[in-house]
Amino acid sequence: MFGGEMSGTWVRERHQAADRFAKDAEYAVQVARWAPSVHNTQPWRFGIGDRRISVRGDAERRLEVADPTGRQMLISCGAAIFTLVLALRWRGYAPRVRLLPDPDRPQLLAEVTLDEPAGGAAEASEETGRLLGQVRLRCTHRGPFLPMRLPAGLLLLLREEVRREGGALHVVTGEHAVGALAALTRAAEHLQQLDPAYDAEVMRWAPAPGSSRPDGVHAGSYPREDEPTEPHFAARDFARGQGWGTPSDSEAGSGRLTVGTVAVLTTRSDGPEDWLRAGRALQRMLLRAQAEGGVSAAFHTQPLEIPELREVIRSRLCGGEHPQMLLRLGMAESERTTVRRPPDEVIDEDR
Ligand SMILES: Cc1cc2nc3c(=O)[nH]c(=O)nc-3n(C[C@H](O)[C@H](O)[C@H](O)COP(=O)(O)O)c2cc1C
Repeated sequence: MFGGEMSGTWVRERHQAADRFAKDAEYAVQVARWAPSVHNTQPWRFGIGDRRISVRGDAERRLEVADPTGRQMLISCGAAIFTLVLALRWRGYAPRVRLLPDPDRPQLLAEVTLDEPAGGAAEASEETGRLLGQVRLRCTHRGPFLPMRLPAGLLLLLREEVRREGGALHVVTGEHAVGALAALTRAAEHLQQLDPAYDAEVMRWAPAPGSSRPDGVHAGSYPREDEPTEPHFAARDFARGQGWGTPSDSEAGSGRLTVGTVAVLTTRSDGPEDWLRAGRALQRMLLRAQAEGGVSAAFHTQPLEIPELREVIRSRLCGGEHPQMLLRLGMAESERTTVRRPPDEVIDEDR
């Protein structure tokens, strides 16, 4: 009888632990959904199993024209993996992550295994909480920045955040290097606009104003005009001449606006694992930038989608390292919106 009571307690405790794990895993996925993704494709699925969460790439959401190798899809998923792990740490777990654990299942991007919570949120570091608090505040900026300096020491800090994930952040200074990157961005935008397949793909991921779709780049998240900066980094043309978008910052009376600080995130090699690591590094630095005085990032990945232009950037401007993201950092005051799919659309039960 004593043994029966013992095993009853054990079973109950097991169930309670499983319930708590399921709730914590759902919480972590619900946070991870807010990672950035190319064209807001949200190309991820999360499988929740017994003390493990798997992250898969959703090949149907890969951009066939702009991203045939899936590089940007994996950067996006890497950003989601970083966010997932951050949320699990906050709930007191010590997650172990294996990237690409099964060569026979390339869509299985990461397996995250978890030990018992180490004592709940009280055990998680203040730093984890600080970064986690930025996940919903971070938002992609599009357009020029306010004429304000970045907080002192921020770039060193961001370089270190990226290095800790195995990448490098090249801050591009000098008139000619910044000018060349801006010109390559404009050239890429022109070349892509010549390609009807590219245009059709952007159309697919840029819903009309008022759309209730929970993915894609909505008109509330970009300015109506591609406001020029000096030098000018072309924005992606999500509106395609239809006048969509929010009033731009200069219309809102912000005065003189600037290009901000230009940077390229690179990796030493250029395979699927590097892309996932680049995504982790990206989200880590974006959350850090947001935490340190609300610094935002604008992305210009068009020239990295054209192999010849990407090669010029690699060989001439990144010391031979592989460029994964081209971005500008700065202070912005515009309030734009973004959307995500609900958790039940991205969670699978994993047995
Ligand atoms: C790999 C990658 C490439 C991106 N490229 C661009 C880009 O070239 N232009 C742009 O405006 N946004 C770009 N973005 C930002 C996404 O459009 C943005 O993350 C998505 O719409 C979700 O919005 P949010 O970041 O505001 O949450 C990129 C994001 C990722 C992860």
